[in-house]
Amino acid sequence: MRNYYIAGNWKMHKTRAEAAELAKALAAQLKDGKHKYLVAPSFTALETVGAIIKGANIRLGAQNMAAEEMGAHTGEVSVLQLKDLGVQTVILGHSERRHVYKEDDALINRKVKLALKHGLEVILCIGELLEEREAGKAEQICETQTVKGLEGVAATDLANIVIAYEPVWAIGTGKTATPEDADAIHAYVRKVIGKLYGAAEAEKIIIQYGGSVKPENASLLMAKENIDGALVGGAALKPETFVPIAKFA
Ligand code: 13P
Repeated sequence: MRNYYIAGNWKMHKTRAEAAELAKALAAQLKDGKHKYLVAPSFTALETVGAIIKGANIRLGAQNMAAEEMGAHTGEVSVLQLKDLGVQTVILGHSERRHVYKEDDALINRKVKLALKHGLEVILCIGELLEEREAGKAEQICETQTVKGLEGVAATDLANIVIAYEPVWAIGTGKTATPEDADAIHAYVRKVIGKLYGAAEAEKIIIQYGGSVKPENASLLMAKENIDGALVGGAALKPETFVPIAKFA
């Protein structure tokens, strides 16, 4: 049985004071939650939020990291700096990183391997653009992003990998993939993992869905066989919307 994993990606929102308020509310309201939880604030709020959720059942995540450990990389944040702040998980390959900041599969793969080398859990995001879906290429795109993102990752490291399927056309648009469409891609990606690492690993890997997840659609999505959690954007910014998702019935 795979455990559900519900993660909040706060993107470029919240000052430290605002982040602290949200983190305090979540720590209190998710105390009796039954699933695995994570929040990923901006770098600037990691220390603040980390201190609040220390000892709670919520993991501390970062939204990105550099592909190098240290050096002359103005504006980047290193894995060592994240670990120093108590970060346990890093989101890599988010569609905003891929499409707005032009990160390619090779760069994302270097980040994945570096994060794993330092013992971080990785949430590797994959997902197709609308025109790719309309051209019938959704599976192919997700397969390529999965295979290239995990190139050189050993089976022994797979326990620290979570895949997040986020169809780009569903992110921040209010358009959710239907549970059936999402489940079909999740099943396909699980098969891809099976080809790479074997059936047992494919059965174990957590595949989150992301893209306009809301309290109203969370349980329908989670009911699907291959959907093991959610990576939530907009609805993660308020306890009123994140807690019901995190505690979906
Ligand atoms: P929304 O939930 O706002 O669509 O964002 C999803 C997302 O990108 C999470 O990483």
